[in-house]
Amino acid sequence: MIIKSNSIILQNFVEYSYTENKTRNSVRFMLLYWHCAVSVYLELVMVRNIQLVKTINVLASKNYDILIGTDGLLDDSGRIIRETVGGHTAAIITDDNVAPLYGQRLTDSLERSGYRVVLHVFPHGEASKNSETYLSILNLLAAEKLGRADVLVALGGGVVGDLGGFAAASYMRGMRFVQIPTTLLAAVDSSVGGKTAINLDAGKNLAGAFYQPDVVICDISLQSTLTDDILRDGYAEVIKYAILSDKELFELLKTPPPATTATTLISQPSSSTLNYQLSIINYQLSEVVARCVSIKRDIVAGDEYEHGIRKLLNLGHTVGHAIELLSGYTTTHGHAIAAGMGIVARAGVQLGTCDAQCSKDVSEMLLRYGLPDNTNYEADELTRACLSDKKRDGDSLTMVFPDRIGHCVLKEIPISELETVIDLGLMRAAERKGSGNGG
Ligand SMILES: NC(=O)c1ccc[n+]([C@@H]2O[C@H](COP(=O)([O-])OP(=O)(O)OC[C@H]3O[C@@H](n4cnc5c(N)ncnc54)[C@H](O)[C@@H]3O)[C@@H](O)[C@H]2O)c1
Ligand SMILES: [Zn+2]
Repeated sequence: MIIKSNSIILQNFVEYSYTENKTRNSVRFMLLYWHCAVSVYLELVMVRNIQLVKTINVLASKNYDILIGTDGLLDDSGRIIRETVGGHTAAIITDDNVAPLYGQRLTDSLERSGYRVVLHVFPHGEASKNSETYLSILNLLAAEKLGRADVLVALGGGVVGDLGGFAAASYMRGMRFVQIPTTLLAAVDSSVGGKTAINLDAGKNLAGAFYQPDVVICDISLQSTLTDDILRDGYAEVIKYAILSDKELFELLKTPPPATTATTLISQPSSSTLNYQLSIINYQLSEVVARCVSIKRDIVAGDEYEHGIRKLLNLGHTVGHAIELLSGYTTTHGHAIAAGMGIVARAGVQLGTCDAQCSKDVSEMLLRYGLPDNTNYEADELTRACLSDKKRDGDSLTMVFPDRIGHCVLKEIPISELETVIDLGLMRAAERKGSGNGG
């Protein structure tokens, strides 16, 4: 409850900081400022200087914790990993954007806890999520003589986590594995639940394994260096969770996104209250992450190997993966699944799973976060790309449709009808008129 009321206060506060006529409203500003300062101070004290905000336990084939916190959690990760998994050597797997930002801090923390550290850095981006990078990681582990009791630490976004996880799952048939997500998308989705994979020429995630991490260490403050566009990718998955099972979160998301505000603040570092404001924003964002992760935890606990309800997490993903593939992975995952969600919501109206208002709400939310709700690809090419997706099941595939905000349903779509279904969801050029579109 405190969080919600503070969200509103913070929203007023941040919006107000950007109004031009500050002098005229200085009394109101001061009141808001101090009201905000006092309530946030009380909260921060309650959560131990905000370093560790929440622990969420996942009960699957492995029982593990997701630690969500802010400033300083990364520097404490050596101790956490030592206490959770032990071992002698830690292999940090990361990409060339993340390594210069956070590689040294993680190395220092691990060394302080007695680990020998080896570092493997590969080029950033989806194009690296392939067999070549995967083999290079395995070869490094072998060359450095890591054993099953040693630990692989994936420091990065979803690409690093998926690659690192598959390498950890397959090296010596499974070694210790820790996820340190550095993007919003990885924090709310890919670092949790144990799906790991690489792409093959035929499509996304076609080779992989279910392999749960031993611990997930999510330091929200690492996200302060993300660009707005990469943050938007993360918000696409956040919006997915809200449509899937959290109407209240959907309503909260109608207020301005805290993380976008954070980057705006960073781009104006002259503000004397910058650090203070960032602390508040990080704290709010950690609540959003915790909410999404709890939804995923509940779904994964009920269906770890995706025989049933876990398929719900693929909302927007069948068409989204097709868009990624058709674009040669130049359309990012978050933007592609956003378009996928807009398309299945519109198709859902035609198929009778949801009403027009629901589809309109989905589109408006996506556009509010600067995400596409449509694509320029045609139904026939999307269908061909979908059929190379691994989720095909004989003569049909399972797709997810909203039936209302906060609830979705699974529907078996015969392959012979797939193109028609996708076509129902595509917005025609005449309908777009100013709407965002992906592709
Ligand atoms: N395993 C799962 O359950 C699951 C779920 C959802 C998505 N995914 C996968 O996740 C991938 C997408 O993840 P992503 O969006 O995190 O992509 P990503 O890992 O490519 O990261 C996006 C970009 O952000 C950079 N970056 C990462 N952290 C940064 C930071 N703190 N500061 C500055 N730059 C930073 C990266 O170098 C990269 O350029 C896709 O491959 C998708 O298939 C997997
Ligand atoms: Zn996804």
